[in-house]
Amino acid sequence: MWDLFRPLVKEITTGALEVKGYIPPCLSGTLYRIGPNALYPTPCTSHFFDGHGMIHSISFREGKPLEYRNRWVQTQAYMTERQAGRVVFSGVGQPDLLGQFIRFARYFISSDSKDIIRRWWQNHQGRISDFSPFANVANTNIEWHNNKLLALWDGGFPYGVTPELETIGKVDFGTKVPRHALGFCAHPKIDDRTGELLGIGTSLLPPYWFYYVIDPSSDVARVCPIPMEQMSFIHDFAVTKNYAIALDIPMSFSIVDIVKGVGTFRWHPERPTRIGYWSRKGYGEMSVRWIETEGFFFLHTAGAYEEADGTIVVLLCRYPRSPLGMSTCAARKFRSSGEFQERGVLVKLKIDPHRGSVIQEQLDDWSVEFPALENQSLGAKVNNIYFLATDSAFSFNAKVGIRKLDLQRGTSSFWQPEPGQIPGEPIFIPGTETKGWIVTVVADRTLQQSRVVILDPECIESGPIGEVILPVMLPVTFHGLWLPSLN
Ligand SMILES: [Fe+2]
Repeated sequence: MWDLFRPLVKEITTGALEVKGYIPPCLSGTLYRIGPNALYPTPCTSHFFDGHGMIHSISFREGKPLEYRNRWVQTQAYMTERQAGRVVFSGVGQPDLLGQFIRFARYFISSDSKDIIRRWWQNHQGRISDFSPFANVANTNIEWHNNKLLALWDGGFPYGVTPELETIGKVDFGTKVPRHALGFCAHPKIDDRTGELLGIGTSLLPPYWFYYVIDPSSDVARVCPIPMEQMSFIHDFAVTKNYAIALDIPMSFSIVDIVKGVGTFRWHPERPTRIGYWSRKGYGEMSVRWIETEGFFFLHTAGAYEEADGTIVVLLCRYPRSPLGMSTCAARKFRSSGEFQERGVLVKLKIDPHRGSVIQEQLDDWSVEFPALENQSLGAKVNNIYFLATDSAFSFNAKVGIRKLDLQRGTSSFWQPEPGQIPGEPIFIPGTETKGWIVTVVADRTLQQSRVVILDPECIESGPIGEVILPVMLPVTFHGLWLPSLN
């Protein structure tokens, strides 16, 4: 197993951490990272999407790094496997439904089944999410809403977690959520002006998509059906002042492939990508306008806003086709080579909402992913974006670093750590007296140790101004969050 996929085996809490260089004294808060961390690593959990969610936190007070902490998100799936003492569930990346059924049946027979059913009913209120058909592992993204962290996964409802990483429980967003809804994607949007959390998610049965508007303080959702012909892959969407925008990409959930055990999603090269947009304030069944374009794939948007003339602008990392190893064969290839098969480049979609047309403009020719925006207000114009980037196709052996694009000036800059050091997603921390800071966690494969690296956004090419040394090498984490000190 490639070392960056090797899970941590213990939960730890350290004391103060070693520092190199200068840590800005205005940094008071906690940096969170989340990613997969299998409890019992087996071939069933070897795809890089799979494994129970683990959150890592590094807390700072006035520039002093106080501690590192890591905890699994205690989902139903995690608790079931912990109680069983062995792997029970297969993952999205390597479906093995028959094996999962047999393992769950063995666990069910060997346990107090009445207690299991009672707990399942209490926790799920009869909903089919969490084990349908894959276990919700809450391992993909983390957001802060209604005084708790939300550990997010694409096909399930989030789990609430305290700032100290204790799991509170699943957040179901009220009784208006249909029983067959699977929850929303890993990138809901939080409007800092209204406090609303906006999400889009899927269901196994029609209408297949739902748009959610979550109240700022009550965790109760307004749920709006979006009728679709089939279930498709949604990882991210976009929101402006007046619109929500989602893309129906030609990658479908393939029950046949899942049953055969060869994959979960199927790419359809002959199908278009459809861009849908609707009023973000909508009620009831959504009136969605669709624009059809040639088929392409994306994982992440990089901001969205409206121009003065009403044009909707959405920035995203666009691939000509799916680069993901969503089949057993592709997963094996990725894990051995560490290489994506396609380049994803930054494009601007300019949507005329009245004519129902779109113009696509490529803004850069590097492979970019995991965008971090300088102005984090939802719907604000995007000027400076920071990415994990490479000038070739993505590969863990390529020249991977942090790239800044200044879209107003048309300039770029790049920082790359030493060979053998792998950076992760950049996170922008707004400053009070300065512009702010970029932080990323770099895994040093030589020392088998990770460190938090702090970059000056005005000159990222100069390299770290300071580093915090962590006691372990974090396995691959997908996303993270900076939460300023709450007191
Ligand atoms: Fe993501």
